[in-house]
Amino acid sequence: MTRPTRAFAHLPSPSGEWPVVGHALRAGRDQIHQYVEAQVRELGPIFRLQLGKRRIMVVADHALTQQVLKARPEHFRRSVRFVRTAAELGLDMGLFTAEGDVWHRQRRMVMASFAPQRIRAYFPAMLNVTRRLQQRWLKACAATPDGVAHLDVQRELMRYTVDTITGLAFGHDVNTLEADGDVIQQHLDRIFPALFDRLVAVLPMWRWLPRDKDRQLDRSVASVGRAIEGFIAQARARMAAEPQRRAEPTNLLEAFIAAAESEDPSVRDADVAGNVMTMVLGGEDTTANSLCWMLELMARTPETLQQARAEVLTHLAGGVDTFTLDALDQLPYLDACVSEAMRLKPVAPFLPVEAVHDTVVGDVAIPAGTLVWNVMRGDSVSDAHLPHPQRFWPERWLQTGAQAVPKHLSMPFGSGPRICPGRYLALLEIKMAAAMILQRFDILGVDTPDGQPAVEQMNLTMTPVGLTLRVRPRAMG
Ligand code: HEM
Repeated sequence: MTRPTRAFAHLPSPSGEWPVVGHALRAGRDQIHQYVEAQVRELGPIFRLQLGKRRIMVVADHALTQQVLKARPEHFRRSVRFVRTAAELGLDMGLFTAEGDVWHRQRRMVMASFAPQRIRAYFPAMLNVTRRLQQRWLKACAATPDGVAHLDVQRELMRYTVDTITGLAFGHDVNTLEADGDVIQQHLDRIFPALFDRLVAVLPMWRWLPRDKDRQLDRSVASVGRAIEGFIAQARARMAAEPQRRAEPTNLLEAFIAAAESEDPSVRDADVAGNVMTMVLGGEDTTANSLCWMLELMARTPETLQQARAEVLTHLAGGVDTFTLDALDQLPYLDACVSEAMRLKPVAPFLPVEAVHDTVVGDVAIPAGTLVWNVMRGDSVSDAHLPHPQRFWPERWLQTGAQAVPKHLSMPFGSGPRICPGRYLALLEIKMAAAMILQRFDILGVDTPDGQPAVEQMNLTMTPVGLTLRVRPRAMG
């Protein structure tokens, strides 16, 4: 980072700043990311924003963002407000909110649980969930007179990722694909949107005037906490009875316990519990929404569907039961579709980090506590960096040399020491579901209430709203 030539207070700022609330009324909640992206187009890649009491430096320059994300944990940390809001809710969010030595210790524990040989051991359980998704959609098609199912695809894919992640994180089969009304999931469905509501709230009304929904929320957090304690106790008992589970854990929870014990025998159940919660928070909506956005983009660009299907049929001819990790590794075009979808529709479209001390970002001096709001969809959709940046064109990811997509232009999983540890698992989940869908179903199209592309709504992650996918079974060759 260079010497400062500008003071934070002198940065340009959007019009419409009000006393007390700053720009919060203009920015809103559901499309706050689009408000900031629109200001980037107006004011350029660096400006100042005020949301309530929060002093924010917006950065939409990918090279600068990469430097900031890399400069953790020494110079930047997760936002204190996020950590406090989660803690006030009674949520221990493990690695996601940890800092300092605790973060280092937990990061090692979590990373060990995502090593390739571990993921190999999780594969059979993941395959089972993919098979259930296929059965569910076949049943939905069979129930219609013309054999075409109209699927609320975001909800469908949430069931898929919920079953996958809770199975791995809890070591317990939460089967939302085959049965409605799982109790833990109902509690989780309440907790995560509430966390986002509180994060963006200008005033903490829940403290001054708690309502029924706030009390219900407290009960949900307590219930999930108790359930997680129970899962940990069961996993420890299974591991005591079958010691080989220590060497070859079959799910994330067992892997955490094994890694924690080998790393630091004094590790507390609380370390494990917080990370179970983080896996569920980090792994459900992110993966479901990324997959959903990709299906929308592919359905609107049918030539990409054809090409991806041809590739899948070449390498995975025999149906879900014959899927292997190695065969799923042989799908460069599908990989390119995933990267392209995450470039256009990053489910974390902004990544806020907080300055630990007075520091310099680019040429701007910022005081300790300033939030640096990294815009992840700035340069990655700008024609200064890519040809036809708004086009869904997976082929760009297969180009090499001068034509290749520049490194760090698109960073859907973040960057630096806190880069998403679940990224390989997420990519595998996305590819497994996409390969099954391409193999077993014809995608006839996507619909939205107004005929426009799905609305982007922020809910901790960027969620597609109102999207219906029309599918019909394909005969297996
Ligand atoms: C497509 C799916 C996913 C996307 C787009 C995504 C994106 C992200 C992003 C942007 C971050 C912040 C990185 C940073 O600060 O530089 C993150 C962190 C994290 N993610 Fe993911 N994620 C996904 C799936 C998952 C899954 C499946 C898991 C776990 C099962 C997971 C667990 C985590 C955790 C624990 C962190 C915090 C890491 C730390 O602070 O050290 N994520 N993810």
